[in-house]
Amino acid sequence: MTSSIADVATPTPFADLPFFVKDVQALTSDLVLLDTVPAESLPPDAQPGQFFQILLEGGEVYLRRPFSLVTRLGVVHRFAVRVVGRGTSAIARLRPGDRLRLLGPLGTGFPLAPPGARKLLLLAGGVGAAPLASVLAAVAAGKTAFRTSDVAVVLGIRRSEEAVLARLFRPWAEPLLAVERPSRDAEGRVVPPVAFPGTALDAAFARWQELWPDPVPPEEIAVFVAGPKPMLEAAFRRLPAAARVYGAFEAPMACGTGLCRGCVVETAVGNVRLCREGPVLSREVHFPHLAPREGDAS
Ligand SMILES: Cc1cc2nc3c(=O)[nH]c(=O)nc-3n(C[C@H](O)[C@H](O)[C@H](O)COP(=O)(O)OP(=O)(O)OC[C@H]3O[C@@H](n4cnc5c(N)ncnc54)[C@H](O)[C@@H]3O)c2cc1C
Ligand code: FES
Repeated sequence: MTSSIADVATPTPFADLPFFVKDVQALTSDLVLLDTVPAESLPPDAQPGQFFQILLEGGEVYLRRPFSLVTRLGVVHRFAVRVVGRGTSAIARLRPGDRLRLLGPLGTGFPLAPPGARKLLLLAGGVGAAPLASVLAAVAAGKTAFRTSDVAVVLGIRRSEEAVLARLFRPWAEPLLAVERPSRDAEGRVVPPVAFPGTALDAAFARWQELWPDPVPPEEIAVFVAGPKPMLEAAFRRLPAAARVYGAFEAPMACGTGLCRGCVVETAVGNVRLCREGPVLSREVHFPHLAPREGDAS
């Protein structure tokens, strides 16, 4: 384990800064990539799994909306946004040169060196790929205790057209793709052919032995999960109790900085604010009661 890398992630300083839209790229009918550049100065470096509160200028949407940073390449801050309502629709309509404000980086991200773990499984559901791509970028940049070859990525998507989300993990890794409602060709074969029909969690269990070239005991594996809430809960309930499991949780957020207490969730160590102590929470610390007991079947 690299001693210079902190085991426990902590919130970092944040800034509220003007940005410009550099590009908005439609990935599917309801997914866009948003590239932004600072108008004046750069915010502090984000830890993987941290997020920014994005405020659109022009008054169409008054409250900020939280989004995980996918990558910061040079000065370009990239976000992947699923269109679900007013704020995200307005983001999808942004054009290069439009102004916005970014507040962040906020919250507590994924640990860079989970205790005892020498392999890392990234389990992404849909646009949950965003915070996990930031983990892989940090691994590739040597900012974690893992090497890229230690990391396996499983990406679960609902429809085959969302396979484009795999791009977020390239060029560092090729995710194992799990498609819940896969397209099939005339002969009934799943398209794309590399896809596993089912959920990301099902795919991880079905292919567990193939994720790394050598067998790895569960206590040496960390699993980072990001996706819809039912997926996080299923992962916390089913993944081997000995594995270190961390999930990126979501809740509607107002302030994003720990003041309004609008994002509080109950955990085994009391109420925590998802925007401050989270969004990344640990199964071991926050939800130990969800871990399977020894002998439970997955
Ligand atoms: C820490 C964090 C990181 C996030 N990262 C991403 C990301 O990288 N990409 C991405 O596409 N989305 C992400 N989200 C979710 C995103 O913030 C919401 O989808 C967005 O705020 C919805 O805004 P809207 O105005 O379009 O929807 P609204 O019109 O406000 O709501 C539309 C529907 O979505 C529900 N909703 C709104 N916000 C949330 C939420 N946070 N969690 C669950 N349901 C919600 C509402 O109850 C409503 O049913 C993240 C959320 C959090 C808390
Ligand atoms: S959103 Fe205000 S405390 Fe978390």
